[in-house]
Amino acid sequence: MAEQYRLSAMIPEDKVREVAERLSIVEVVSDYVQLRRAGANYTGLCPFHAEKTPSFNVNPAREIFHCFGCGAGGNAFSFIMRIEGISFPEAVKLMARKAGIEIEERQLSHAEKQAQDERQAFQRINELTTGYYRSILEQKPEGAIARDYLEKRAATGEVAEAYRLGFAPDRSDGLVQHLRSNGINLESALKLGVVRKSERGWYDQFRNRLMFPIRDTKGNVIAFAGRVLDASLPKYINSPESPLYHKSSVLFGMDMALPTIRTENSVIIVEGYFDHLALYRAGIRNVVATCGTALTATHTSLIKRHAAKVYMLFDSDAAGRKATVRSMELFMEQRLPAYVISLPSGEDPDSFLAGNPVESFRTCLEKARPAFDFYVRSLLAQTPPDSVDSKVRIIDELLPRFKKIADPIERDLYEKEICRLLGITVHAFRKRMGGMELTSRDAGGDQGQADQRNDPTQETLLALICSYPEARAEVARSGIDSLFEGDYLELAQLVLDTLANNDDDQALSHLLESIEAPGARVLLSRMLVSEARMADVNWRTALEDCIRAIEKKALRSIKNLTAQLRTADPDSSEHTSLLHEINALRTRKSKL
Ligand code: GTP
Ligand code: MN
Repeated sequence: MAEQYRLSAMIPEDKVREVAERLSIVEVVSDYVQLRRAGANYTGLCPFHAEKTPSFNVNPAREIFHCFGCGAGGNAFSFIMRIEGISFPEAVKLMARKAGIEIEERQLSHAEKQAQDERQAFQRINELTTGYYRSILEQKPEGAIARDYLEKRAATGEVAEAYRLGFAPDRSDGLVQHLRSNGINLESALKLGVVRKSERGWYDQFRNRLMFPIRDTKGNVIAFAGRVLDASLPKYINSPESPLYHKSSVLFGMDMALPTIRTENSVIIVEGYFDHLALYRAGIRNVVATCGTALTATHTSLIKRHAAKVYMLFDSDAAGRKATVRSMELFMEQRLPAYVISLPSGEDPDSFLAGNPVESFRTCLEKARPAFDFYVRSLLAQTPPDSVDSKVRIIDELLPRFKKIADPIERDLYEKEICRLLGITVHAFRKRMGGMELTSRDAGGDQGQADQRNDPTQETLLALICSYPEARAEVARSGIDSLFEGDYLELAQLVLDTLANNDDDQALSHLLESIEAPGARVLLSRMLVSEARMADVNWRTALEDCIRAIEKKALRSIKNLTAQLRTADPDSSEHTSLLHEINALRTRKSKL
């Protein structure tokens, strides 16, 4: 077990460089994606999202990739990390093997050694704890009550073994003693939340509970969930957050599901530990569960790293529907196709499989509806569109989510379907959408930011300063903050700094790897693969065109804001902030 925790941030820097130099990115990517030459780039079907026409680009000169469809981008290492779902050191090692380079690991620093020792200690505590609960369940007289319970829930034998189920006896310090007798420092166990301390001494955190170990993707126990054996509350107690356990990024059962997720290329998400168990017992293995929390963006990106499609299987009550819609939005943002499995009302996977053969479950799986379709239907079931008022309410509820549909064809089809169901024209629907977009921008909402993501003027300016030293000098002279804004501004500053020190072709690819802000990262990788078209342009003319476009835009905004100013109450804070904004724009414009 400790093997995985032999920390690996210890591959010497020059080895990393050697690996990078030995393997071209085209070679690396070609193992996973069929690439075809297209001008300065190679293109292919993106392995990180489902697509039918290639928007995945590899630029051999810069040794980077970028997908115009989903925004994924980076160098050969990040490609391998993402597609294999592994860490940076693991990716380096994997590529080194391919390149025939031997890697001997450097000595750990004192701090690294300490961190590693602590992790190993944590791991040992979790193993001892799992083993203790397991032995009580399997052999001890005090485990009889839990054995009976699991008998009733058909979770014995191999199933119990697969989950490493256990039982925390109704004793105050059984685990404390067990850990002590194994020479464990209880302060470390306290950090993991399996024991606690009071004035009267140490005591166990879990008592009289059936224990589910929660494991990471490699199968290491990182936390526990304990269920009562009767109807008392709370039904579950989970380990607190700890150095090993961050519940917003862990999916229960991921380690058991991974092999099947790879072959099925899909994941089923359920709510309960026992739902997971029921599906596992029935032979359905590409299943994960959240640990009693709402799904987060970290969860969804973990799923996306391993599968191309996700099925949600939540309760059919109001809370379950709400969780489904919320999760759907996360999946839409990540552009991961999501489906909803519906079971007969009142059933969860556990109860359904207790009364039906697994084939019936597979039928439900085949009938799973696209999440958005499910959402529209349940919304209409809740609010029948039988009056003008209700139709308007439905549309306003739908629109923010409708806008998140990334695929234009899908969007078009849903638009038609929604209009048909509501009995309104597409024209009216679009008009309402346009109106909403306007208000959110006026309110300074994040809509404006999303637009800025793809500002052609800013893109051109950025490409100019990457390719032409003269353009860089010119831009630096007039001040980058009068030309760039938002993510572009941040990025332009980084580009100028980077190229000031080191004007070679790889400098920007290295910069790409070091940027942490996802917005700026996507912008740069997109720009770097498409920059070829900026070769051989007249940089001065291009720069002047950009400046003119910015001036025009500023003028338009000033006009707009001035119009708003006229209708605003002069005593309001809105009035003041409009004035500020107008002044700022004027200053910027005058600097151009
Ligand atoms: P059974 O009811 O025995 O089938 O258990 P279940 O695991 O299916 O639980 P249930 O359907 O009631 O709840 C779904 C999930 O929500 C559970 O698996 C837990 O992750 C979480 N959960 C439910 N109740 C609690 C609670 O009291 N505390 C915490 N922390 N989580 C809970
Ligand atoms: Mn349940």
